[in-house]
Amino acid sequence: MTEAGHLRVPQWQTGQLAPVAAAREDVEGPVLTGDARRLAERTIAKYPVRRSALVPLLYLVQSEVGWVPRQGMREVAEILGLTTAEVEAVATFYTMLKLHPCGKYVVSICTNPSCALLGGRALYERAKEILGEQCEHITPDGMFTLEEEECLAACDKAPVLAVNYLFYDRVSQELLERMIEGIRAGHVPEAARGGVPGELKDVSRTLAGMGSQTPPQPDTVPAGEGEGGGAPGG
Ligand code: FES
Repeated sequence: MTEAGHLRVPQWQTGQLAPVAAAREDVEGPVLTGDARRLAERTIAKYPVRRSALVPLLYLVQSEVGWVPRQGMREVAEILGLTTAEVEAVATFYTMLKLHPCGKYVVSICTNPSCALLGGRALYERAKEILGEQCEHITPDGMFTLEEEECLAACDKAPVLAVNYLFYDRVSQELLERMIEGIRAGHVPEAARGGVPGELKDVSRTLAGMGSQTPPQPDTVPAGEGEGGGAPGG
């Protein structure tokens, strides 16, 4: 795990080919135009070397589109004077950069041993049941993407899940059901260590170093069982 986000587990370890296959999905037309292009230039100006802005610019693309299509990678490469292969090598490395269309809320459930022993695997299977068979890509209503996560470094709070990278601790199946219902109804529960996750585009804007565009949500629902929490790696 690094400052930039979770490291993607190599495909040879997971047996999954999804990240590269998904990277072939694309959008038409330019992504970084107008204000986004100006924000890109402002971001680049913060660094002594243009290429150092690579990860923030990929998050900027994600904040515009909701994920990182190849078109966005091509534009970032052109802006920074890199090859698309160099940009793709970075984009495919970090799991917080999404290479396929995602829901507004990415639900990441840890199934590593500490969480699995306390119900993390069952929690993941229950989430799949609730959200439906397409949920590991994007639910039909565009609200959720479910992903199985490696250790979130909060093993003493197992089982742990994150919604758009804010943590919820000791999550029971009942709490999971209430959380999903709440998010669907527009009442996102407060994370265990404070804060209410915004939508993925907004969170990506923050990760790009540009702050949130969404005002704090006044009508939040406490998660109820949490203690401690926060951002990945925190
Ligand atoms: S095993 Fe789940 S947070 Fe470490």
